[in-house]
Amino acid sequence: MTEAPKTAGTATLTLGDKSVELPVLSGSTGPDVVDIRKMYGATGAFTFDPGFTSTASCESALTYIDGDEGILLHRGYPIDQLASKSTFVEVCHLLLHGELPSASEFESFERSVTMHTMLHSQFDRFFEGFRRDAHPMAIMVGTVGALSAFYHDSLDIHDPVQRNISAIRLIAKMPTIAARAYKYHVGQPFVSPRNDLNYAENFLRMCFAVPAEDYVIDPALARAMDRILILHADHEQNASTSTVRLAGSSGANPFACIAAGIACLWGPSHGGANEEALNMLKEIGTPENIPDFIAGVKDRRHKLMGFGHRVYKNYDPRARVMKESADEVLAATGRINDPLFQVAKELEKVALNDEYFIERKLFPNVDFYSGITLSAMGFPTTMFTVLFALARTVGWIAQWQEMMEDPSQKIGRPRQLYTGPTERDYVPISQRG
Ligand code: SDX
Repeated sequence: MTEAPKTAGTATLTLGDKSVELPVLSGSTGPDVVDIRKMYGATGAFTFDPGFTSTASCESALTYIDGDEGILLHRGYPIDQLASKSTFVEVCHLLLHGELPSASEFESFERSVTMHTMLHSQFDRFFEGFRRDAHPMAIMVGTVGALSAFYHDSLDIHDPVQRNISAIRLIAKMPTIAARAYKYHVGQPFVSPRNDLNYAENFLRMCFAVPAEDYVIDPALARAMDRILILHADHEQNASTSTVRLAGSSGANPFACIAAGIACLWGPSHGGANEEALNMLKEIGTPENIPDFIAGVKDRRHKLMGFGHRVYKNYDPRARVMKESADEVLAATGRINDPLFQVAKELEKVALNDEYFIERKLFPNVDFYSGITLSAMGFPTTMFTVLFALARTVGWIAQWQEMMEDPSQKIGRPRQLYTGPTERDYVPISQRG
């Protein structure tokens, strides 16, 4: 149900004695774009947009964000409806195939994912190469890239069947790899996936089951885990997704592209913010310390982690759902009076009523409440970004597939505004000052 871009008039650019008519294109909704592909040829000038604050890098039908209204749609479905009515595996089908599956399509898709959750037995030896105190994201970056050393039968990126197999393998194996990264970190034996459990149940069991006793699935925690995965599944052309697309544009295999996305997500301004946000709440400690912390933010001594967003200039709709999840998980785990949750709620209230944050349109984003929820579920802060990467894998691979199916796709190769030395001759060392 995608719509081809429609021409919506032209934009005239005049540069010195040169003038060029640039087509304006409209999508199904959201801002129009000025198609500048012919601009350099017509004017000899580049556009300049570090950070891509005004640049659309591609055409996509996967996810739509209206940052001013705080709207997030996946293939047209609002995130709050998917979080409350769907499941992560169903959202995976929606992102990959464009529609919610029928009952038989869902059964077949879920079965396909379930049957790919195991890892090659030699793969487990990779973990032995890391120190026990290695950050789990360092393990994820290394091991996910290594998947391409095991699955030579699905590396032909021009074969749609192999592209789909790679997508299923990545979605299915990420929980097993993430759980192994955690188990290795805490020094417990690996737990194999089970085919009689759903995606979230399987992941929680692989993380928290121990040989000494049977692991009892808590339905409330499994549901919360599934919802958290939905909230993180995809988010338009964010930094890590753009990294995956740029890596894929060179023809790199999907496993290598996802490893590149994981590396980018690790940064504290992006996926690493959930870990930093909880560390920030621990540093604040009590509501009484909030005024001093806010003063430090205004003095630019630190940022309010989990706040602000390049696109959302309103409340991140995912943060709203995440806050509800935090309530449910804290109640389910007997932590409803968790002091950090009280600090977070008070900090949000103070910030949302403070002119510094209001004029900069800074609101809680998806990372502000996720740490409290994940911590209550038993995950250490070092695992928070791993869980983000686990969930975002479906978004990355769906965006990669969309790019590979785009007939106009070509290698991404931005230019620059050069401000270095102009040409000069080499000076022998004997003649240098
Ligand atoms: C994610 O892009 C995506 O879609 C990402 C993501 C996804 O799902 O993929 O949504 C996931 O990455 C969410 C964001 C997680 N990061 C954080 O929570 C880290 C804290 N946030 C900031 O670092 C910042 O808000 C960014 C990086 C998220 C956005 O930065 P921008 O768009 O470059 O905005 P900016 O830095 O230009 O900020 C505008 C103003 C500045 O003040 P002035 O210099 O104009 O006076 O707001 C200030 C900033 O200093 N500001 C903050 C702030 N974020 C911005 N001040 C204090 N605390 C903050 N968190």
